[in-house]
Amino acid sequence: MTSQTHDTASASAFAELDAYRALEAKQQPSWPDPAAVAAASAELATQPPLVFAGEADQLRERLAAAARGEAFLLQGGDCAETFEAATADKIRDRVKTLLQMAVVLTYGASMPVIKVGRMAGQFAKPRSSDTETREGVTLPAFRGDIVNGYDFTPESRTADPSRLVRGYHVSASTLNLIRAFTQGGFADLRQVHAWNQGFVSNPANQRYESLAAEIDRALKFMDACGVESAALSQTEFYVSHEALLLDYERPLVRVDSRTGDLYDTSAHMLWIGERTRQLDGAHVEFLSHVRNPIAVKLGPTSTVDDALRLIDKLDPEREPGRLTFVTRMGAGKIRDVLPGLLEGVRDAGATPLWVTDPMHGNGLTTATGYKTRRFDDVMDELLGFFEAHREAGTIPGGIHVELTGDDVTECLGGSENIDEEALATRYESLCDPRLNHRQSLELAFLVAEELKRLGR
Ligand code: PEP
Ligand code: CO
Repeated sequence: MTSQTHDTASASAFAELDAYRALEAKQQPSWPDPAAVAAASAELATQPPLVFAGEADQLRERLAAAARGEAFLLQGGDCAETFEAATADKIRDRVKTLLQMAVVLTYGASMPVIKVGRMAGQFAKPRSSDTETREGVTLPAFRGDIVNGYDFTPESRTADPSRLVRGYHVSASTLNLIRAFTQGGFADLRQVHAWNQGFVSNPANQRYESLAAEIDRALKFMDACGVESAALSQTEFYVSHEALLLDYERPLVRVDSRTGDLYDTSAHMLWIGERTRQLDGAHVEFLSHVRNPIAVKLGPTSTVDDALRLIDKLDPEREPGRLTFVTRMGAGKIRDVLPGLLEGVRDAGATPLWVTDPMHGNGLTTATGYKTRRFDDVMDELLGFFEAHREAGTIPGGIHVELTGDDVTECLGGSENIDEEALATRYESLCDPRLNHRQSLELAFLVAEELKRLGR
């Protein structure tokens, strides 16, 4: 193509993308000053991409393998990242938690685990109400650090477009550190395994000792054989977030100079939330025009027809790895609802990647006002996910969880037995409750046992 036809082609690709502007976009902030939003968007448009098209393509291939049952996806991180918590230590501990989980899952599944953080851009949150009222005072709801502040004052809660630019820079420094950690020796398999040994040496986690011992023997065996490969000391790590805030996503869409295709360079993988997946809505339209791997959350009221129409819109070519469905049904519903959905999609000949989010269908509020989740409900939904796939003959391809590397007390239960009273000791999430470091590892061991049992 000459550069002129290339320009014409990308102008028409952008024109197609911009069809979303005519559609309803739910869950957007009301910015008080539209000119300031336009200025922030223009500034973002001049910034370098955060990820490259080739990386997104590589992730698509990895996800295609997971959809075929030849890999397993581990996607996790905060419900809402914050600017304040984008520190070296906290980022390191989250990466470390995901790497530790991945080693256990790799062993359990006997297949590669694709590591995808809810990191470096997971700032914008959908809310059930536009406003929040405290003691008779009503202010805009907190929509995530990239929109407004958490403090309950009119100044802080007013949507501030300079946060879009700050969100980009915080994402860039987070991603930079992730790349350094995962390429620079921190991800060494033997090191990660040694951390897991620390976890199982705690008497409360004794039941995981035998699996850890098996992994230990496998590593010693590889060592004895003289296996030395970059795969032991470095790892691929991808980032993802909910593509909620279109004023942030749109200026980061870029043309791939190799092909003329559009990519949303804010993350490798983007997902559409349960509240914004309307077929005639702006989010579905927007993401249908970028080549990144896309996921859609499906809640308990999702029908086969919803799923098939989303496939037609987002993945008309049915390209392996392009589309992931993340089901979040709730432990009490998954066994009733998921098999029918899986069967309907299977019967239509489609093979999206199916992943479980065992968090968002299992929320509860304690009498003392804490938003929490029970570890046992999370595990129950996970097991229900595997059962539903067994029933439908489809492939359970991964897990999507909200977690942190810190020692918080936000979810009930686990081997530390966090009870309602303990929630008050260290509840730090500004949004949904996350599994803490130990609960995350425990979940990985339990899922690994299940994968091993399935002989996958
Ligand atoms: C989330 O993943 O934080 C979220 C809001 O999920 P859902 O869209 O499934 O409710
Ligand atoms: Co959440």
